[in-house]
Amino acid sequence: MTAKPLSDARILLIVGGGVAAYKSLELIRRLRERGADVRVVMTEAAKRFVAPLSAAALSGHPVRSDLFSLIDEAEMGHIELSREADLLVVAPATADLLAKMAHGLAGDLAATTLLATDKRALVAPAMNVRMWLHPATRRNVATLSADGVALVGADEGDADEGEMACGEYGPGRMAEPPAILAAIERALEAPTAIPLPPGVGARDRGALAGKRVIVTSGPTWEPIDPVRFIANRSSGRQGHAIAEAARRAGARVTLISGPVALADPPGVEVVHVETARQMRAAALSALPADVFVAAAAVADWRVEAAGAEKLKRDGGPPALRLVENPDILAEVAARRADRPAVVVGFAAETERVTENARDKLKRKGCDVIVANSVAEGAGIFGGRDNEVAVVSAAGVEAWPRMDKQEVARRLIDLIARLARERA
Ligand code: C5P
Repeated sequence: MTAKPLSDARILLIVGGGVAAYKSLELIRRLRERGADVRVVMTEAAKRFVAPLSAAALSGHPVRSDLFSLIDEAEMGHIELSREADLLVVAPATADLLAKMAHGLAGDLAATTLLATDKRALVAPAMNVRMWLHPATRRNVATLSADGVALVGADEGDADEGEMACGEYGPGRMAEPPAILAAIERALEAPTAIPLPPGVGARDRGALAGKRVIVTSGPTWEPIDPVRFIANRSSGRQGHAIAEAARRAGARVTLISGPVALADPPGVEVVHVETARQMRAAALSALPADVFVAAAAVADWRVEAAGAEKLKRDGGPPALRLVENPDILAEVAARRADRPAVVVGFAAETERVTENARDKLKRKGCDVIVANSVAEGAGIFGGRDNEVAVVSAAGVEAWPRMDKQEVARRLIDLIARLARERA
């Protein structure tokens, strides 16, 4: 039985610099077709053979190759990159990459990732026949086999035989993508993590380690015509802070953000939307998740028939017919097969804050409502601080006024407790 089906697997593909690199694009396509998540690291040399943009388009993720890129590190640290994968696949594995792996060198992103990983690796060697047969490569391959690295294209230690791009004939060609795919499936049958001695390795990575969290944040914009829209004063600060706090607690976070003036939080997957209907579609496609936090101020109504052309003044003020938007929170809370274990909503009220929050908890079918007063003068909407009452089956807890980051941290603690109880 496959321990980890390919459709659920996260593959980190390391592309070395060789003519066979073009086949790695085909490999990405096939892996994606089978439902695997593929992240790609390319060596500098690989980028001479295939365009990183092609690999990014096929994998659906940015391609990384620079060990010292601040932007990439902010998105996902290079250690995390290999930790989040189920299997590392090196294709093509050049003589240089095999040598680095065998000797534990860590001079670039590809080599560092291979050394820092806690997961097993599969290599698909590709090189000139003389390089492949050279005693140094033979030694390196033997060392890697002894280290538990799987090899594909190997026939008792030999890579595929055939005519090579360099005109010579013999072993050293990279295995074809279907054969690599089959080898990946075989590798996933065994546990992919490399066991470490007790007491060594990652510390507890936080209260939400291994959990998937979806957060909606910010306002929605509902178009009246191509230039005008209905909006609200939500800044997205609270929702974004929750996404960041969840990330820090070790969760994999998808933040679905309406139009806000805030930077995307680092290490969080951000989906930018404008309308409530787009937000709903993004939320549903981000499922399944363990936790759903609806912090967005979704417009309750939209214009039934938004004008395709800009409405002219001459016609007089238009009569706008409004229709109700889908209630994303209620819909997610009512899911049968994939309802997140913890569903949290917000209630921005101007009066009878806790009473309304209690009602909302029932009406929306969620587990927690975070209620705040947005009465004029409270400075909550768009402000840095928040003062909330947290309503759940356990009762009402009124929290003192504090900044939105602190509210987010406490809320994540509470969510993690609930998630543990329900696990
Ligand atoms: O009903 P009300 O708009 O007051 O509910 C607020 C809560 O419901 C918030 O958590 C908000 O994100 C969520 N909501 C939603 N979809 C809507 C309206 C509100 O997810 N259309």
